[in-house]
Order: sequence, then structure tokens, then C-alpha cells
Amino acid sequence: MIYHQLIVVGGGLAGLRAAIAAKAAGIDVAILSQVHPGRSHSGAAQGGVNGALANHPEGHDDSPQKHAFDTVKGSDYLADQPSALQLTTDAVPAIYDLEHMGCPFSRFDDGRIAQRPFGGAGYPRTCYAADKTGHYMLHTLVEQAYKHEITMYIEWFVMDLIVEDGECKGVVAYNMTRGGFEELRGEAVVMATGGAGRTYSNTTNAVISTGGVAAMAYHAGVPLKDMEFVQFHPTGLYTTHILMTEACRGEGGYLINGEGERFMQRYTPTVMELAPRDITSRSIQQEIDAGRGIDGKDFVYLDLRHLGAELLADRLPGTRDLSIHFEGVDPVFEPIPIQPCQHYSMGGIDTDVNGKTEMPGLYAAGECACVSVHGANRLGGNSLLETIVFGRRAGSAVAGFIQGRTGGGKAAAAAAAGSAAARVRGRIDDIAAREGSEDAYVIRTEMTLTMRYHFGIYREQSVMQQGLDKLLALKERLKKAKLRYTGGVWNVDMIRTAELEGMLDVALATASGALARTESRGSHARTDFETRDDEAWLKHTVSTYQPEGPPKLSYRPVEMGLFEPQERKY
Ligand code: FUM
Repeated sequence: MIYHQLIVVGGGLAGLRAAIAAKAAGIDVAILSQVHPGRSHSGAAQGGVNGALANHPEGHDDSPQKHAFDTVKGSDYLADQPSALQLTTDAVPAIYDLEHMGCPFSRFDDGRIAQRPFGGAGYPRTCYAADKTGHYMLHTLVEQAYKHEITMYIEWFVMDLIVEDGECKGVVAYNMTRGGFEELRGEAVVMATGGAGRTYSNTTNAVISTGGVAAMAYHAGVPLKDMEFVQFHPTGLYTTHILMTEACRGEGGYLINGEGERFMQRYTPTVMELAPRDITSRSIQQEIDAGRGIDGKDFVYLDLRHLGAELLADRLPGTRDLSIHFEGVDPVFEPIPIQPCQHYSMGGIDTDVNGKTEMPGLYAAGECACVSVHGANRLGGNSLLETIVFGRRAGSAVAGFIQGRTGGGKAAAAAAAGSAAARVRGRIDDIAAREGSEDAYVIRTEMTLTMRYHFGIYREQSVMQQGLDKLLALKERLKKAKLRYTGGVWNVDMIRTAELEGMLDVALATASGALARTESRGSHARTDFETRDDEAWLKHTVSTYQPEGPPKLSYRPVEMGLFEPQERKY
């Protein structure tokens, strides 16, 4: 048994920020991650982080209130408004904290942090470090974690939460480099495991962004919230789905259809390519569906040629590299083929603004959590922001929780140790002992295609019902999937098979919430219910896990108080 007061699961931006905040409060904290923290998916975020710094000449009267308004409007009024204001108010100090830690933000000539326009924002408020903002922020926090001597268990994969007497007391993890299951016990756990993008095919997300670990909280009785809201980024690279940042359009890039038109003129003539992502993705899909993709195919062009080589080298160097290496297209000379791709989970583990879940001792932050600040559609640049704002808040809050506890401690943890790891061992042995006729990889692929084709950009009752039935059938088939080998080191087969059950349950929460919600709101666009219905549906979906079948759904009011819902026009 290993003991630390706090176990943080996930070494991306939210996990690192939580760990640094807890350590600063005097807590003995360990980060546990299946990859080196510097390789977390936060590093794939490109375009920037939002904050009303008011550095841009066109944004001198920007404010956290205006940022909150844009966030709530972008969310199609499903965000909890006090939480959105908390996010945007904390944004400014959170970004300056990072600057003081040494994050190499791009600069205006006067030395202040540079800001660029992003979709759905009334002001240019996206702070950036060229087009590698997530990478630079991540490495800044990794340095800080080393500086603060935070213990890191790298290449450890969490297999289950330890829940005793209704409280979260740690995790059971597989030590990938040495083999074997270990109990890591403590007084509390912060989940910061990222999104569930890999439940879909055609996603910008890394292979580690599965939702499988977050599902462990769900299985332990903590509800998921608003899972039907799934963001499709307008510009994923056509063949590999790698993100082509929104900053391309923020810097002036065009979207062009097969007829050579800047087609956003038809949909959002005022803001053109800088509409929010839900609207832009739907517009691209409509062009494709109308046969106006390039050569009638299912992609359009992101055209940066008019921006010139110098601007690309200065502000979009990663975009050029990725496009050359993964699509064989040099954007200085050729337009980039793109297609909307799954990008972000607006829903997640239900938390408050301090990362607290309904289970004592369990906190969550970052994309795996749903505070809710993104509602039905997140604005670009608000996800990097949520990691540093809610990561820090969760770290401080959990430190207070630990310091306020009586009892507990290493001796009590040692006395309780043993049974949790044995339970995980037993579960894995059971999977190996099955009379297995199914292949977990086939089931995974079928799940991702089901999510893409049945719960995609446009949704409709009968298509979704078929999709839900398919997912339920896959859940049954998974009970017949067998593990070939249960021991050893780097048993990725075991990890991927074990997490699939959780991924399917997360996918079922998305499917059930989507099928039940008979309106269109933000990213949830139904062809059979085309308008937003505030009277019936201005409410959050709460999914409670049930071992058999789909989850139990209940609803909770949205917290209002700042902005009256309006028709969303851009
Ligand atoms: O387009 C992007 O650079 C992505 C940013 C985000 O998802 O916030």
C-alpha cells in the first residue's frame, strides 16, 4: 500500500494545477498518470486561453462580465450563470499566475500578453503562445510540479476507486512498468482524467481520452451531468482528425466549399468564420450534405494562403507542420482539407465550482467534470481556462477538506489495505476466465462508429433509438469478451479491455440524454425538434448509473440570475 494525503488522477493541466494548489496548502500530494504528464492531452490544445485581460486594442473595455455573457450565450443558456462568472472572474489572475510561473505567451509590441479573436467572443480575448498554447501551459505546470517536489507515479493506470463507508479513500492502479496492482490510499482523490472523445470515431482526442477512468466515479454512484452535449470542432484534418486550431480562423483564415465560395456568408454573415463551433460545424455539414463539399466529397477547405508565410511562421507554425506532415499539404501554398470532428465533452462528473462531487473525498476538475460552465456548447479557449481555474479551486478546496478531517492517516489506511486490490485482481481474472467469443477491439470500433453516425452533429429520434439499441447490445456482447493475458508489464490489452465497460456506460449516458431531450440546443441539434424549448428543457440532465440497461435520468434547474435567455444570433 502506498499512502499520500491526496491522490490526483491525471497529469494534464487540471490535475497539475490541482496538485500544485494542494501542495501549496501543505498537503502531501501524488499525481498518478498513465503517460508522462508532459504527454497529456492538454498539450494538444492549440489556439489559446480566454481571459478579459483587455490587452488587445479592440478589447480595451472587455471585462469578466462580458466574457461571462459570451460564455452563457455560447452555451445556449444552459451554463449555470454564477459558475460562468466565477470562471471568467478567476480567468485574469489564473493567466497572470501562469505568466509568473514562466509560461512563454506570445506578446504584443508593448510587452503585454497577446490576444486574438475566437468564435462567439465579443472581444479578442484569447491569450496565446503561437498555436501551441496547451503545450506551453502544460510544460510550465510540469516544471512547477517538479519544483514543488510533487510525487509522480508515471505510467500507472487507475483500475478502480476505493470507496469505503461512502467516502473515496484512494485508487487501485496497475503499475504498467513493473506489473501488478497497488492500492494508493489517502484522504481524498481528485479526478482530472480529461474527456471521453474516444467513445467516438473521428475525434481530435488522444488515445488516452476515453472517459473510462471517469466512469469509475459514475460506477461508484456519482452522477454524470449533461452528457448529451458533445462538441464537434469545425476543423479537424480530413484524414487523421488532428485539430487545425480555431486560431486559423481567428487570424483570418477562410472556409471554402467545392464551388470556391466562402459559404459562412450564408449562415453567419456578420461574424463569418468566427461563429461558435456548434453553428460553424453545422454549416460545414450542411454544405457537405448539399453536395458542396470539395469534389462533392465529405470535406471542405480551410484556406490560409492569403495570410502569408510570415504570419504562419509567427502565429500558426504548428498548424503548418501538422498539415504538411499529416495531410501532405503546405498551407502556404494549398488549402487544407478539413471536416468537423468530435472534440470535447461538455458533460462530465457532476461537481460544484470547487470540484466537489456528491461523494465525500472525491473531487473532479477539467474536461472530465461538468461544473457547468459550458452548457450546451463550449466557446473555444474556455477549456484551457477551465483547467487552470477549476484545477486550482479543486486543489484548494480538497486541501481544506483534508485539513478539516479528523481520524484517517497512514496507519488507518494501512489497516484497511488489501481488499480493494484483491477485488480488482478478481475482476480481471473473471474476464480472463470467460467463455469468450467476442473481441473487445471489434466492440470498441462498433461503439465509436455508433456514436459518430447515431449521435453526431445532427440527431433524430429513430436514428438515435437504433444507436441506443446498438450500444445496449454491445454492452451485452462485452460480457463475452475475454482477456488473452492478465499479467506482466505494459499489458495494454488488459487496460483497454477493462476501460471499455466504462466507455460504453459513458456512451450510453450520452445516447440516453440525447434521445430524451426533445429540443435543439447548442451542440444538440435535432432535425425532428429544430428549436430550443426553454419552457420544457432549460434544465440539466443528470444520469445515474444502473448496472443493466441505460442510466436513470433526472433533471435539475439551470442557475440563472445574470442574463435572460435570448435568441442566439451571430
Ligand atoms: O481550436 C483550438 O485551438 C481549440 C481550442 C479549444 O478547444 O478551446
